[in-house]
Amino acid sequence: MTNAILITGGAGFIGSHVVRRMVNNHPDKLIVNFDKLTYAGNPENLTDITNKKNYRFEKGDIADEKTVSSLFEKYDFEGVIHLAAESHVDRSISNPMEFIRTNIVGTVVLLNHAKAAWADDFSDKCFYHISTDEVYGSLGDTGLFTENTPYDPKSPYSASKASSDHLVRAYYNTYGMPVVISNCSNNYGPNQFPEKLLPLAINNIKNMKPIPIYGKGENVRDWLYVEDHADAIETIYFNGKKGETYNIGGNNEWTNIDLIRLLCKIMDDKLKREPGTSENLITFVKDRAGHDKRYAIDSSKIAKELGWQPSLDFEEGLKKTVDWYLNNQGWMDNVLTGDYQKYYKTMYENR
Ligand code: NAD
Ligand code: TYD
Repeated sequence: MTNAILITGGAGFIGSHVVRRMVNNHPDKLIVNFDKLTYAGNPENLTDITNKKNYRFEKGDIADEKTVSSLFEKYDFEGVIHLAAESHVDRSISNPMEFIRTNIVGTVVLLNHAKAAWADDFSDKCFYHISTDEVYGSLGDTGLFTENTPYDPKSPYSASKASSDHLVRAYYNTYGMPVVISNCSNNYGPNQFPEKLLPLAINNIKNMKPIPIYGKGENVRDWLYVEDHADAIETIYFNGKKGETYNIGGNNEWTNIDLIRLLCKIMDDKLKREPGTSENLITFVKDRAGHDKRYAIDSSKIAKELGWQPSLDFEEGLKKTVDWYLNNQGWMDNVLTGDYQKYYKTMYENR
């Protein structure tokens, strides 16, 4: 098979949904998942497709020149869908360097090797960089991020992603690399590592542990079901215009406190608890340093130009997500290893 597509970070949360979708929808393409398997990468996310004929897994680090070089020698890639990243804001606050290495250096290593492999003949090639709405900074009570909103990242995570976006655009402008970028809002759904708000809260509620809410819980996020994001990524990979950026969002803004209250109601219902039991677990803790107030996305460009829309009603998506975590306790148990306990203690004890 010569039609190989490289997906980086395919063992992570969003990447695993993208890999599954591409493997199942495109049997004529060889899907190569390249992932370092950091704490966030989990081969268990992909057990259902591991034996498919058009799937390969390659373990490696995107910032490691030698490994990436052998990868591009081994396969003839028609495209790259680049998701590998350090992705958690709180970890970027305590350890920024790993974010610089993976998110910035790793992206440039991939750009260089794709460029060399394609020998400057870019026809029918695509380097697709997956980014976040956090590069635009923080909104006040009104307004939406559009593709033209100036970059104003505030955390080491968002600054590293912004830097990688700039580099990807620089390769388009300087070398004519066939790139496309998308910036998406907060994803939720199955397989998300329980350092992020929703899976962490679901796990704590299940175990009757406090739900830590930063500050007053008034920060606002726009939430999109992960399968809808994977659908948008597939659409952009095949139909996005080179050199363009597409914002992806759910038109679905929630304050953290309202979101967690809704989650508590759903969990009481699913776990057959007295109404109000889970809400009693809500605990306000010290705010995140530099906590962005509000993210909200204008996704009219992708709707108008590529016909993509979010498909799932939020409450339905949240119920589906809760069901997945409750039915996959084995997955959660394997993730909650000693490392996670150590992380949780450092991040939340005495907060
Ligand atoms: P994740 O942390 O769940 O997964 C990241 C994956 O990348 C893991 O499998 C990890 O092993 C791999 N990885 C990390 N460093 C690597 C390296 N040096 N070399 C190779 N692989 C490496 O992240 P996610 O939430 O699935 O996010 C995926 C992408 O989408 C990221 O680029 C992120 O910035 C972006 N994004 C995420 C969200 C969200 O809400 N989670 C929203 C918008 C954009
Ligand atoms: P998170 O899932 O870390 O995503 P991001 O910071 O990329 O938006 O956090 C979502 C929101 O929830 C954010 O405003 C921070 C807040 N939050 C808490 O209140 N408590 C927590 O324990 C976590 C992890 C996040």
